[in-house]
Amino acid sequence: HHCSSSQTSPSGPFGSELSLTLQVQKHLEPFRLSLEKLQDVSARLRKDMIRGLGKHSHHRASVKMLPTFVRATPDGTEKGDFLALDLGGTNFRVLHVRVLEEEQRVLKMDSQICAIPQDIMLGTGEKLFDHIAACLAEFLDSQKLRGQTLPLGFTFSFPCEQKEIDKSILIRWTKGFNCSGVEGEDVVNLLKEAIHRRGDYDISSVAMVNDTVGTMMSCGYRDQSCEIGMIIGTGTNACYMEEMKNVKRVEGEDGRMCINTEWGGFGDDGCLKDVLTEFDEEVDKTSINPGVHTFEKMISGMYLGEIVRLVLLKLTEEKLLFRGCPSEALLTPGSFETRFISEIEEPDSGLENAKKILTKLDLDWDLVDACVARLVCDTVSSRSARLCAAALATIVNRIRINRGLDHLKTTVGVDGTVYRKHPNFSDELQAAVRLLAPKCDVTFLISEDGSGKGAAMVTAVAQRLALQSRLLEDSDGEDEEEEEEEKCDANI
Ligand code: BGC
Repeated sequence: HHCSSSQTSPSGPFGSELSLTLQVQKHLEPFRLSLEKLQDVSARLRKDMIRGLGKHSHHRASVKMLPTFVRATPDGTEKGDFLALDLGGTNFRVLHVRVLEEEQRVLKMDSQICAIPQDIMLGTGEKLFDHIAACLAEFLDSQKLRGQTLPLGFTFSFPCEQKEIDKSILIRWTKGFNCSGVEGEDVVNLLKEAIHRRGDYDISSVAMVNDTVGTMMSCGYRDQSCEIGMIIGTGTNACYMEEMKNVKRVEGEDGRMCINTEWGGFGDDGCLKDVLTEFDEEVDKTSINPGVHTFEKMISGMYLGEIVRLVLLKLTEEKLLFRGCPSEALLTPGSFETRFISEIEEPDSGLENAKKILTKLDLDWDLVDACVARLVCDTVSSRSARLCAAALATIVNRIRINRGLDHLKTTVGVDGTVYRKHPNFSDELQAAVRLLAPKCDVTFLISEDGSGKGAAMVTAVAQRLALQSRLLEDSDGEDEEEEEEEKCDANI
């Protein structure tokens, strides 16, 4: 069999290191994106964002730019108790959150993680929502909250066409979910129906929130210049405050609205062909949603490990790793977890971690192999950080130009396992943003549980605005008189 130690090069394991490095580098070259390339990617995204915002062009836009009906960030007067559901990240969670006005703080009173078994992730929508309703019931009991009918913020981290804050139609599943009968349906309805099927408790108003929006809002309570939310976790996405006059699909010209960009879909029309590697194409083909969320598949935690595995496999086939001998594990899709990348790139313990992981994967490695594996991880995660930077730069540049500013100072609320856990992802991201958006001064704020607290915050802001608009409706008559007077004044 071709896998034997005699395959080691005649000059010994280290003898041909230089030529090995060159050959490995050749395979990694397609992952290295120059600054010019990133600028180009950013320019393409800018065009796609404009298309997504357009009244007619949005139908064929791969970057969907979804209106969220969140028109205001927190102003610090929000308060009350809320329930929150968080579906679509690493875990499904139920939370009880209290917003304290006096201290401008959001407290997580308690929370519970509920596992979602694979068969539910890929089963019927009815089963999924029954499961969610059951988890919520269990939580309400454990918190002795069943009697109170609290408002609920539902962080549902999938692309949804939102009609109102409490009407949200799933466009498509992403990130390993694929429940039947949910795409094209109103998620709030499905949740309410499941709760009614049980009939043993009820909830009051529901606000639907994408995790990016929750992240922006949870940071917004602390830092009111936070007007961008970004997730780099299982999936990737960002939202930001756009001028209403540019949101052609929603009536009204004044003020701003938070737009959920769904940048994960960037490239779905083929515009990133020149950036994709053979490994990206393979990841896409074997995913449960081939052909969609192209950008996400180059960046997010659900896919990074698999890209690395495919590269390691290729290098093994080319006899540049493990003496040309792949293990069963290395041949198995999904066996190289994304968290391995973070562990292998750890500045101090990285090489030791690499050895442990390669052993765990049943590979016959030497020191050079461990170093090459580390190089592969670094290359794949750097590309992810730099692509994210290009996309984020597009947003901050847009906000700056929208506002006619020479210089913009802004804050991005960020969350996600890749951003949080990887040793230098955030540094690389920031460095590249600085180069790609030189006129913007961008501060990154790690969100403290944006999907939980942020969802409560959105619900609280929605309530505050509903209350305020009710007050305005009450005083309708007087307003009109005042307006008339103003008009007269203007005429004089
Ligand atoms: C979803 C987004 C979400 C992102 C991060 C993507 O797959 O389409 O809605 O914000 O993942 O969780």
